[in-house]
Amino acid sequence: MPAAGSGVRLGAGIPKAFVELGDRTMLERSVAGLLASGVVDDVVAVVPDDRVDEAESLLSPLRVGRHVVVVTTGGAERTDSVRNGLAALTTAHDAATGAAVYDVLLVHDAARCLTPAGSIRRVVEAVRAGEAAVVPVLPVVDTVKQVDAAGHVVGTPDRAALRAVQTPQGFAPDVLLAAYDAAGDVATDDAGLVERLGRRVATVQGAALAFKITTADDRALAEFHLRSRPT
Ligand code: CTP
Ligand code: MG
Repeated sequence: MPAAGSGVRLGAGIPKAFVELGDRTMLERSVAGLLASGVVDDVVAVVPDDRVDEAESLLSPLRVGRHVVVVTTGGAERTDSVRNGLAALTTAHDAATGAAVYDVLLVHDAARCLTPAGSIRRVVEAVRAGEAAVVPVLPVVDTVKQVDAAGHVVGTPDRAALRAVQTPQGFAPDVLLAAYDAAGDVATDDAGLVERLGRRVATVQGAALAFKITTADDRALAEFHLRSRPT
């Protein structure tokens, strides 16, 4: 779970994942949501350097039953943070078992802290059914234009063929690790790195509640949802 961003666009003055919605931080809500889905065993939370202790104490109540919750530090770009998370996962593994025990890896933005269990389950099920990479998507409601450097429209893609992409994105472990090994630069989504390897990426239905909290308006919308359904 990349949670190491600074949240510039939200403008809360602290890293976004540590902003409280209701009585819990986005980080706690996101990790708890994954664990409550019933299809996630363990979580690696990737947080800013100076927030490790805080993340440990926020997340330790979630370390119940068989669940392992690891905290590690992020990097300058989301890609760096995910890469650090994957490294922490591999290290935790090698120490514990010496073998890869996971059949699915998910990458999930802490900023999508209201993501319903259904989205998470659909992604995991599609990977278990044999897809190497799976993204949850929604139809695009606005018409989308492609523009040139001067801002002039050069094309109008058929909206019916477009999808907005959410997280968690799910992967066969070897495919995600290979995609990050091959990635030289920054990508805005993890499945994009898999596409570059020439591998097929499948889509499943996403959810409106899986929207990414980016701006103060998004935060207000999330608080509205929590008031109407306080969990
Ligand atoms: N993220 C991360 N490491 C980074 C940048 C982003 O782990 N160096 C994480 C964020 O914490 C977030 C997710 O990636 O959970 C999606 O990023 P975004 O919504 O852009 O969050 P921020 O980068 O924090 O926000 P902003 O771009 O407004 O600063
Ligand atoms: Mg960002």
